[in-house]
Amino acid sequence: MRSVIDIKDLSIKEIEEIIAVAEDIIANPQKYAHKCDGKKLATLFFEPSTRTRLSFEAAMYELGGNVLSVSDANTSSASKGESVSDTAKVVSCYADIIAMRHPKEGAPLVAATNASIPVINAGDGGHNHPTQTLADLLTIHREKGHFDNLTVGFCGDLKFGRTVHSLISALSRYSGIKFVLISPDELKLPGYVKTNLSEMGIEFVETKDLVEVMPDLDILYMTRVQGERFFNEEDYLRLKDSYILTPEKLTTAKYDLCILHPLPRVNEISVAVDDDPRACYFKQVLNGKYMRMSLILKLLEVD
Ligand code: CP
Repeated sequence: MRSVIDIKDLSIKEIEEIIAVAEDIIANPQKYAHKCDGKKLATLFFEPSTRTRLSFEAAMYELGGNVLSVSDANTSSASKGESVSDTAKVVSCYADIIAMRHPKEGAPLVAATNASIPVINAGDGGHNHPTQTLADLLTIHREKGHFDNLTVGFCGDLKFGRTVHSLISALSRYSGIKFVLISPDELKLPGYVKTNLSEMGIEFVETKDLVEVMPDLDILYMTRVQGERFFNEEDYLRLKDSYILTPEKLTTAKYDLCILHPLPRVNEISVAVDDDPRACYFKQVLNGKYMRMSLILKLLEVD
């Protein structure tokens, strides 16, 4: 019984296999339409979501399975004080696999330790979001054809952006990767992530200037400033408009730049960028569903 709490719970080879199955699902959806007949996915979301919860649920339905859902902590017994470990034991009696989002870092790990079925981390606080990383990786693979020798810019809230932490962790395993970390001082990448990069000998630079580094980038990963994780409103209001990507700022970008964003977007990418062929963030949404289908099949050990 396998759970996925951190992207490094999956080896590079396993990620390649998940991508290969996702590509086969895209090419032959009917082949997969009954793979999970009789199986149930429980989506336990104690924090808001549109993409992750609905894509997990769409994934399970498209595999022929069914879904049990907690979409709001206030309507579950968590609001009465039930622990994550008890919730995991209880849901293990009803479902075959759990996808859990929780505001507390480490909560999905606690669930996985106590569940008798696989648990997938669907985002824990400002920590990790491994299935968003799977969506990101399929998109990069489809757009670039490889993961080696890419210069990847991360822009915005690198402190609280869990999708950033997970994607950096995943890409760090490939050779020739260089990271350009674009943020205000207050939203820099956490020290523990930078320490890991230094220990692995991975090249990275920190800057506040998006326009200056634009010509260097193969991938630009924009992020929302995560207002819900700030301790005071004043800091959020001061920092929320730090970066707004516009067509003008892309004039010096590579012709084959790949622009990603985990979404939701507030205003950090102008809607005028959506028509640029380099904007890949809505393809990224769809890729997330295919990668979650592939991951569910792997964890349920369905051939
Ligand atoms: N990318 C992402 O996690 O979106 P949601 O918060 O809508 O699930």
